[in-house]
Amino acid sequence: MNNSSQSLPPGSTGLPIIGETIQFLLDPNFADKREKQYGCIYKTNILGRKTVFMTGAQANKFILSSHMDCFSWGGGWPNNFKELLGRSLFLQDGEEHQRNRKLLMPAFHGQALAGYAITMQQIISKYLKNWEIQKELTWFPELKQMTFEIASVLLLGSSPGDKIQILSQWFTELTNGLFAIFPIRKSWSKYGKALAARDKLLAYIEQEIEKRRSNPGDDALGLMLQTRDENGDRLTTEEIKVQALLLLFAGHETTTSMLTFLCLALEQHPEILNKARREQEQLGIESDLTLQNLKQMTYLEQILKEVERLYPPVGGGFRRVIKPFVFEGYYVPQDWIVSYRINSSHQDSNIFPNPQQFDPERFSSDRAEHKQTEYSLVGFGGGPRFCLGYAFAQMEMKIFASMLLRHYTWEILSDQDLTPDPIPTLHPRSGLKVKFTSSQVKN
Ligand code: HEM
Repeated sequence: MNNSSQSLPPGSTGLPIIGETIQFLLDPNFADKREKQYGCIYKTNILGRKTVFMTGAQANKFILSSHMDCFSWGGGWPNNFKELLGRSLFLQDGEEHQRNRKLLMPAFHGQALAGYAITMQQIISKYLKNWEIQKELTWFPELKQMTFEIASVLLLGSSPGDKIQILSQWFTELTNGLFAIFPIRKSWSKYGKALAARDKLLAYIEQEIEKRRSNPGDDALGLMLQTRDENGDRLTTEEIKVQALLLLFAGHETTTSMLTFLCLALEQHPEILNKARREQEQLGIESDLTLQNLKQMTYLEQILKEVERLYPPVGGGFRRVIKPFVFEGYYVPQDWIVSYRINSSHQDSNIFPNPQQFDPERFSSDRAEHKQTEYSLVGFGGGPRFCLGYAFAQMEMKIFASMLLRHYTWEILSDQDLTPDPIPTLHPRSGLKVKFTSSQVKN
């Protein structure tokens, strides 16, 4: 492609070497400010790389689907991600990616998924009862333990038992390293702690793999243990370890974020909370939740979509340009990094009027605002590499919300900072401190 007639996108590349990294990591309005100034495509320099931010449904479609052959996933994510999460699905391309995605798919669909409902309910119920005893708690870290236990029991077939707290803590340390500005490899540094946590988690996963070798089963780990490629070769233990680490990571960090904002938004909007409770009452659920029950929770689905829109756990996705391209008249050269912006795309007032308002009705069948423009709601990505765990996450979130709405009340405690902090995954700064009680009258 000839670039002589087209200019690079507008924007500033900031200071030498560090560029605009500090602003990107510390200013929650980094993208908003630049979008107002430059529009839907602009350049910057973050995490040591020349980067172009692209926002809006059209940009999402371009990156996620129509022009996805211009991009590499593996080359796009920051180096910290590559080192901490290893060569896993998230960071693979081409045939290698297709093979592994196809291999893992059965653990996230159909029969397998249907079999997860009971275990999810049992684990969630244990946490709810425990919070009732605690009376006051900080929800974000508690939800993190709960979602981690669910992912690890259902995807790895392990029963972490009393190791849950420490395993969840190692994941927090690993996650904190993903966006460490200075990847210093010392035991005291954020990045050093993240590397140590990764090693401890990989050692734990290896033990789980060894336990399962003689009886693999058909959860995600079992599928990885049994598979053979066309030459009859199995995945190596190293390959299985990093894929399992990614599934545990992807399978709980993001869900925790969405559940936390679900609880926050419901408490802040009593009329929406009441309508959601009424929907649950009308379903007349007496015992265990069935898949049929979950399908009928259409208002809850609208609420979850609105949480995804207004509080997307992942702010954007990164890619490396492997084929130069032109978008909106601007030329983007090979080897630059491109990031599609999930959060700012969800703020487009032409698609979502009053975008700051929490309004689940925008996803009612009458309004269906997201259906009017493709790729306008991308909290789970889009196109052929749409989130592999979408159905798993929806099921877990619906079960949790249903049990919470039917049996409990909660009150947000005062004197806390609820500002959403986007790094590493969106969370309220104080972690959401609440008073938690059962709504059932006890005799
Ligand atoms: C609320 C929960 C979740 C959210 C918001 C979420 C969000 C996302 C997003 C935005 C992407 C695309 C990233 C990109 O385009 O660069 C993605 C991909 C992915 N997600 Fe999720 N996710 C969630 C839950 C899960 C769960 C429960 C799992 C698995 C247990 C999972 C596994 C994956 C995997 C493996 C990919 C990569 C797919 C591929 O590249 O082929 N996610 N997710």
